[in-house]
Amino acid sequence: MKRGKLIVFEGVDGGGKSTQLRRAAAALRARGLDILETGEPTKGLWGRKIREMARTTDRVPRETELAWFIKDRREHMRDTVGPALAAGRIVLCDRSYFSTVAYQGARGFDPAKLLAESQAEFGRPDLVLLFDIDPEAGLARVAARGGPHEPAFEELNYLEQVAENFRLLDLEELVRIDAARDEGAVARDVMAAIDRIVNQEGVD
Ligand code: TYD
Repeated sequence: MKRGKLIVFEGVDGGGKSTQLRRAAAALRARGLDILETGEPTKGLWGRKIREMARTTDRVPRETELAWFIKDRREHMRDTVGPALAAGRIVLCDRSYFSTVAYQGARGFDPAKLLAESQAEFGRPDLVLLFDIDPEAGLARVAARGGPHEPAFEELNYLEQVAENFRLLDLEELVRIDAARDEGAVARDVMAAIDRIVNQEGVD
């Protein structure tokens, strides 16, 4: 059966992953490839609850936060990502369960357990691009671009732990990208990594 490719963009905020995702999508479409751009948290029910929570200073219990991210992902994988892959499309996904491992891991859950459970439920992507940036620089970029604040996730001590959890990920499908460089240099690394998996069998 023909199956597409799942490429996940990960990292702390302000690393430029969303910009790079859009650039990669445009470059791949210019080659005539069928691309789905998506991401988590989604715009669905659970994703909206998460964003609402993130933008206030009222915290929900960490168990509730974790449950919302997982419910959101379950629907997204079932209704959006799964069907696209089955149709042979290339799916570019802004965040996935590696964010749960890093961010909810930094809330005190065991990152190794979160990873194992996520892999068991959702499988493994074809490629994970991890945008590596110092959280302080990331926060500065987030502040500079404006937009809504998410105090739930934008605190430096917390993000240092998140970044450390991302650093500890050791997976065959993971490629680290130094995101502190200019956009063009980062984009070249992104496309080089994508080309290694997209030019393989199956996708044309
Ligand atoms: P983000 O990608 O920043 O969405 P948006 O740009 O639309 O605000 O995600 C919101 C926050 O959610 C981000 O700070 C990371 C956090 N997050 C988790 O804590 N766990 C997860 O599983 C995911 C997907 C995101």
